[in-house]
Amino acid sequence: MVKPATLSETDPGAGLAVRLRGVTKVYDSGVVALGPLDFDVRKGEFVSLLGPSGCGKSTALRLIAGLNAPTSGTVGVSHGAGEVRSGRSIGFVFQEPTLMPWSSVRENVRLPLKLAHVPAAEANARIDGALAQVGLSEFAEAFPRELSGGMKMRVSLARALVTDPDILLMDEPFAALDEITRFRLNNDLLSLWQNLRKTVIFVTHSVFESVYLSQRVIVMTARPGRMGAEIRIVAEPRGEDFRTSADYAGYCRKVSRALAPSQPGRRGS
Ligand SMILES: Nc1ncnc2c1ncn2[C@@H]1O[C@H](COP(=O)(O)OP(=O)(O)OP(=O)(O)O)[C@@H](O)[C@H]1O
Ligand SMILES: [Mg+2]
Repeated sequence: MVKPATLSETDPGAGLAVRLRGVTKVYDSGVVALGPLDFDVRKGEFVSLLGPSGCGKSTALRLIAGLNAPTSGTVGVSHGAGEVRSGRSIGFVFQEPTLMPWSSVRENVRLPLKLAHVPAAEANARIDGALAQVGLSEFAEAFPRELSGGMKMRVSLARALVTDPDILLMDEPFAALDEITRFRLNNDLLSLWQNLRKTVIFVTHSVFESVYLSQRVIVMTARPGRMGAEIRIVAEPRGEDFRTSADYAGYCRKVSRALAPSQPGRRGS
């Protein structure tokens, strides 16, 4: 794993969780996946990355997580009081729940704690806490095959939360779910974010989801992904009233236009 630079190495910014400056990524195959990409995310902020398939959203998340190194530019990640606690301080939720089928829910959630050598008693308490946060306390001993798609995704979320990360990176976590389950998980994620005040960077294809969830939507251009537009969503509280409001429809229109500025009959806004 590549250790992310601290913000102090990349021009410190008070209150920032993540700072990307001139970040590019060229894969060994020669594919220019990203950049140059520049953006900041404030501590505690909920930001969505939205963009066409293949524009480099997952690549950007992997660079922030320190799973890959950028080809050029700097990725600054601040952890807590400025110290780097690589890995433990970032929780990653993938599009697929990627659970171990032979292990119970409890053992799946235990994995990152095992890797961090957390003592068993503390680990058990943390697992109980994380399962309660996602509403799965009663399913601790169940196996993945006994769970619905939404429940599997909750396990994946609990596994990301169990180390109490400062930053939660989510890569299209709800894309494979039906709309009702997706709405429910959207609301649960918002409650978690409001209670835990973590920094969330959420990748999605869905204009509607990005507007519903985030304080700011970063619209990326087609590959190589750059910042195309940035739209701030001001809405309190989020909930079904917001989802059916004229404000919500207006924001969705604005984000859609930013996503497809060159589409015939559409003007960028
Ligand atoms: N490990 C890799 N090796 C080579 N090329 C890669 C690798 N990972 C991604 N790419 C390429 O980089 C580009 C960006 O990929 P990435 O997965 O970041 O896009 P994305 O925006 O997440 O797409 P999607 O919305 O479909 O998930 C694509 O052209 C992809 O083929
Ligand atoms: Mg992706």
